[in-house]
Amino acid sequence: MDLVRRVQAMQEMARQARGTGKKIAFVPTMGALHDGHLSLVRRARELGDVVVVSVFINPKQFGPAEDFARYPRDLARDADLCIQEGVDHLFAPEPDEMYPPGHRTFVDMEGLTTVLEGSARPGHFRGVLTVVMKLLHVVKPHFAFFGQKDAQQALIVRRMVKDLNLDAEVVVAPTVRHEDGLALSSRNAFLGPAERAAATVLSRALGRARQMVEREDVRSARAIEAAVREVLAAEPRARIDYVAVVDAETLEPREEITGETLIPLAVFLGGTRLIDNALVRPPAAPRPPAGDKA
Ligand code: PAJ
Repeated sequence: MDLVRRVQAMQEMARQARGTGKKIAFVPTMGALHDGHLSLVRRARELGDVVVVSVFINPKQFGPAEDFARYPRDLARDADLCIQEGVDHLFAPEPDEMYPPGHRTFVDMEGLTTVLEGSARPGHFRGVLTVVMKLLHVVKPHFAFFGQKDAQQALIVRRMVKDLNLDAEVVVAPTVRHEDGLALSSRNAFLGPAERAAATVLSRALGRARQMVEREDVRSARAIEAAVREVLAAEPRARIDYVAVVDAETLEPREEITGETLIPLAVFLGGTRLIDNALVRPPAAPRPPAGDKA
């Protein structure tokens, strides 16, 4: 595996790979790699001939009061994991390399970026879209991999790729969880032992919602949201930032669960903010038994 620190060197490798007919599979990350990231790398290995992982803690997607300065950084460990997973190129530029002095062009999107995470973290998705756009131009992948863990991010990246006719296929992979249900996240490292134990409340709350939709035939978004809030409220260490029940494509609030529905939530445990989500849909109506001509 080679470690690439320069945009130009990465672009040259991408050009060469494309020139020899190789398929490039790309996993963008901010490092502190865990099994969630590595599940994307494994998918990339399956679909691509050349696997590129980027580790870049993108300053433009953090708000001024957010955790950019203390975001976990360990490039040596990330590089070891990439070697173990058979990654070909690890692209890890410094902030100045991605945003040289004078940089002033950003990618913006209407609507989808101002709700939920976008409303809680103003400017966040502008930073995400800008860096993903830049990374796609640098790495030139045929396939780019994103996790359903960040459902809104995956949705807006797919939207940008479509809207701006980018020549990459976005692949979204399922959320990897610990045995107790907590979604793997680099930010879990900030949780103290009591907070870590309490953090299972996110997936429990989402599990309750899934059960209501899939087993109990509940269709009222309001009832489902109330039940999710109730589970979260029963954990004294958890403070709700938002819970919503929205259309999985438009992110508009739903009243009734009809088609594919996203239930995203953000919860503080002490100073750490965690997000998770469930994608639910009502079970298909059972077919009438054969010969039943009612
Ligand atoms: P980061 O949080 O490092 O995540 C990188 C990718 O890993 C994202 O697509 C994210 O959804 C996915 N991921 C994280 N935890 C996961 C889990 N438990 N299961 C499955 N996938 C998981 O998301 C970002 O970085 C940045 O915003 C980035 C896209 C790199 C742009 O800076």
